[in-house]
Amino acid sequence: HKRYTGLIEFYRDRLPVSANTRIISLGEGNTPLIELHNIPRIIGKDVKIYVKFEGLNPTGSFKDRGMTMAVTKAVEAGSQAIICASTGNTSASAAAYAARAGIKAFVIIPEGKIALGKLAQTLMYNAKIIQISGNFDQGMELVKQVAELAPVTIVNSINPFRIEGQKTAAFEIVDELGFAPDYHCLPVGNAGNITAYWRGYSEYARYSASHSAVTRNVPIMCGYQAAGAAPFVVGHPVENPETLATAIRIGNPQSWDLAWQAQKESGGWFAKFTDEEILAAQKLLSQQEGVFCEPASATSLAGAIHDINAGKIPEGSTIVCTLTGNGIKDPDIAMQQCADTQPVTISADLDAVKRAILDNL
Ligand code: F0G
Repeated sequence: HKRYTGLIEFYRDRLPVSANTRIISLGEGNTPLIELHNIPRIIGKDVKIYVKFEGLNPTGSFKDRGMTMAVTKAVEAGSQAIICASTGNTSASAAAYAARAGIKAFVIIPEGKIALGKLAQTLMYNAKIIQISGNFDQGMELVKQVAELAPVTIVNSINPFRIEGQKTAAFEIVDELGFAPDYHCLPVGNAGNITAYWRGYSEYARYSASHSAVTRNVPIMCGYQAAGAAPFVVGHPVENPETLATAIRIGNPQSWDLAWQAQKESGGWFAKFTDEEILAAQKLLSQQEGVFCEPASATSLAGAIHDINAGKIPEGSTIVCTLTGNGIKDPDIAMQQCADTQPVTISADLDAVKRAILDNL
């Protein structure tokens, strides 16, 4: 029995590290693949839906998979500082791994548009936070420009090591199921993750073709976006993206061509869903399955349910939805979601407590 010490150690033979590489890890990866027991019954469809709960990574999102690789390689190359633009999760992850490595992190975030938990954790990890009065896409352009002028390594998903780390989520799914799912659904923002999953599945298919353990090949990739920030659905960048799912409030995705490649090669599609549909899926998942993800993450389930109901994803299918981030990152949205179910306040006496229970059974 070997102790789990993070995804680089676990998938070392399929990642760009050498025996001498100092690995910067917080034990990321190895996240649960949870089969939904109630939602398939509620929607009345014969499907197997699994959620890959990436919110259980060390900083609460899938970004940690990419960040362990990106920071490991930045440190290996002698870098003393990293930088990213972020809607909140990349910044939190970059800050944590920089703290772990003993280097500096600079993060550029859109002022007032990142969830409270993400801001709090990034502050705690002691990153230098630069807020701009602009959106993620503007921040991303500034990062690319400033990295030419200052000694900082970009750790956004345009850094190829980010994609390398993130592809391991697909490895874990195939390892656990014993095959690739029929459909893989995920929220798409900057489009690094759909790129990474497609690479992971494709590499695994080639790997298993020569090792013969795995039967099914690769999934159909379904990329889901928020209606107000859906460049892949409208077919061109969106100037002023808007959505309550602030993690995916992105109009000019950096991995544009690679995401289209994933769609084309897998025979998949892009679709968009309203904030109302996204929030409904977030609440359904919490209340019916006990899995609390952040709003952006619920886009994958909103899309899956829609496409199952529409028959686009047929009955009998095995579907994996990536839940990219943890629900507790965005307490403001959670409180709004539950505005009509606030706690009851009573006196601290046994009778009152007993009544509160009996009245609500
Ligand atoms: N879900 C969450 C919770 C995210 O934070 C992001 C991206 C995505 C989905 C979309 O993934 O960009 O690879 O298509 N967040 C980035 C950030 C942009 O700065 O934290 P993607």
